[in-house]
Amino acid sequence: MSLGPMDHDDDIDRIMEVMAGAFAPEYGEAWNRRQITDALLLPSTRYCLIGARGSFDVTDDEPVAGFALTRAIVDEEELLLFAVLPQYRRKGLGATLLAEVIARARSRGVSRMFLEMRRNNPAGKLYTGFGFQNIGVRPGYYRTAGGQRLDALTQELQISDK
Ligand SMILES: CC(C)(COP(=O)(O)OP(=O)(O)OC[C@H]1O[C@@H](n2cnc3c(N)ncnc32)[C@H](O)[C@@H]1OP(=O)(O)O)[C@@H](O)C(=O)NCCC(=O)NCCS
Repeated sequence: MSLGPMDHDDDIDRIMEVMAGAFAPEYGEAWNRRQITDALLLPSTRYCLIGARGSFDVTDDEPVAGFALTRAIVDEEELLLFAVLPQYRRKGLGATLLAEVIARARSRGVSRMFLEMRRNNPAGKLYTGFGFQNIGVRPGYYRTAGGQRLDALTQELQISDK
């Protein structure tokens, strides 16, 4: 779903609810509300929510479980943020959400999707299952709150041959 900037205050609340619970603080990956609001002012930035029962059109009747945020650049799209709240994990919601994000990208004519992740993030198993492949490493790119250096892996999914 991608709405105009005036329309999505409730959805920004939902995104922030997931943000607050889904990202381990040591990695400093969560964005603040201002960063989300500013990102969504750009028409190239899109989000998709998923509710606890698997709906993409989340209303007040269904708790929000997760979200994805993407940015399109010509015919490529980058997965900027992707998260499911801990209490809803391992039920297939992350996979359902990622499948929807990829389907929406494909329907807009996107040919490749990219993402960047910490090496050894369990999310990597999910990405690999969808066909994402490692195309680059930035050694020691992330630094944890405790000062540990972690590699960043760039992954790509070919969506069409265009
Ligand atoms: C990554 C994340 C979104 C996955 O959400 P989820 O709803 O649990 O994902 P699913 O239940 O759809 O998992 C699908 C498959 O991915 C793999 N997977 C997902 N989480 C995993 C984990 N913690 N450990 C091992 N495999 C995992 C499994 O193969 C799983 O299938 P299975 O449960 O049948 O074994 C969630 O763990 C999360 O929000 N993590 C914190 C934020 C984050 O790191 N985001 C990614 C940044 S790059």
